[in-house]
Amino acid sequence: MAGRKFGAPMPERIVVGRDREDAQAYGEKGTAFLGKHIVGKGEEAHLTTGVLIDVARPHVVLVVGKRGSGKSYDAGIIAEEMTRLPQEVRQNLSVIIIDTMGIYWSMKKPNERDRELLKEWGLKPQGIDIEFFIPKGHAGEYDKAGIEYDGMLALPCGEIKPEDWCMAFGFSQVDPHGIAIERAVKHARKLHGGAFGIEELTKSIGDDKTTEKQVKDAVSNRFLAAMEWGLFEKKGTTISRLMQPGKIAVIDTSHYASASAGWSVRNLLVGLVSRMVYQERVLARKAEENEAMAGEGKGQVPMVWIMIDEAHQFLPGDASTPASEPLLTMVRQGREPGISLLLITQRPGKLHEDALAQADLVISHRLTSRADIEALRSIMQTYVLEDIEELINSLPRQKGTAVILDDNSERLFAIQVRPRLSWHAGGSPSAIKKKGMFEE
Ligand SMILES: Nc1ncnc2c1ncn2[C@@H]1O[C@H](COP(=O)(O)OP(=O)(O)OP(=O)(O)O)[C@@H](O)[C@H]1O
Ligand SMILES: [Mg+2]
Repeated sequence: MAGRKFGAPMPERIVVGRDREDAQAYGEKGTAFLGKHIVGKGEEAHLTTGVLIDVARPHVVLVVGKRGSGKSYDAGIIAEEMTRLPQEVRQNLSVIIIDTMGIYWSMKKPNERDRELLKEWGLKPQGIDIEFFIPKGHAGEYDKAGIEYDGMLALPCGEIKPEDWCMAFGFSQVDPHGIAIERAVKHARKLHGGAFGIEELTKSIGDDKTTEKQVKDAVSNRFLAAMEWGLFEKKGTTISRLMQPGKIAVIDTSHYASASAGWSVRNLLVGLVSRMVYQERVLARKAEENEAMAGEGKGQVPMVWIMIDEAHQFLPGDASTPASEPLLTMVRQGREPGISLLLITQRPGKLHEDALAQADLVISHRLTSRADIEALRSIMQTYVLEDIEELINSLPRQKGTAVILDDNSERLFAIQVRPRLSWHAGGSPSAIKKKGMFEE
């Protein structure tokens, strides 16, 4: 590597996700330090200037790569960086992480394991102030296991649409089961307004005089099973609790991983949280415009970054889930209300094509499947002359290397993502245990 000549200016850091106008106006303000640019290939490869990602404007960021390539790790990096922003920027942002694997709770602990590596980067281990939310109905199990949490999440049952229940239960809306669900929701709404729980719904099913018993029993059974999810109640947590200025809310949904309805309940959760966040931000945006016109600027509802691991399960290309429509609304119309999405997937080829088409930043770790590489190619505009496959294949074979596709500057960069300040619990388990604070 050619050293920097004495007196030569420091190379400017690269900011991705920012257009020229913002780059000139803001410089490096409102960015997250993601890693360093890799220049050269194979043996020749070396790290050069820093790479920063814009977090001040809304984005759709796609993080892709095969198993164990560093995707979940990246989401943690961006979340860490949010907490390191200057107060006046940080207070306008909030982060919600949908934690499907139950790995982000460990961010509260400093990454002592990589102290030496962090030192090479001029960084130190540091725990991050996250708020860890668990499904309300399962608090007892967390208490019993001695897992600490900061908040309990419950969702308002009355906000779930009949078609979402149908999708979650695997019924068609037009068959007798679907029709019975629709009738029950309408009936419960008539009796209780918006505030009803699953008990009220099953009662409405029981009171339905036109539906035959067998169908009513089947539908009731599904609702009774949904009660076990411990997630829905009459009122539910107010969405602003998850959207605190400068805060990171981690919603642990790993609990549902082993349940047979695991993806159904997680899809309902992501769908409803997304819908509520969207509504909250659309209203806030109106208030912000009014304040701006009046020359004020209070902005109590921060902009949001929603980070979703295993995104192809929530927003698949070949099917609809209860999360599909709310996520697509944010993908297509989230810019105006200030909503950013960070979608993580091993399989970009399985993700809904609109999420691919709307992504303005892609962080791609190593990918092997042809269909997935083709999916990335389809995102790239004609400006990219380099071959994405060749560039990905030429990445040094170490953890955390990636290619960034930046639609804003119309460029591609190879990068090494920086090490985490906070403990990452998502590594591969090893049969050979090392001594340490947390065993991996
Ligand atoms: N930038 C990095 N610097 C150092 N180590 C890293 C980096 N990125 C990832 N790693 C290492 O790689 C491991 C796997 O990363 P991660 O958990 O993010 O994989 P993943 O792509 O999310 O995999 P999966 O698809 O299986 O969830 C981490 O536990 C960490 O040890
Ligand atoms: Mg992961």
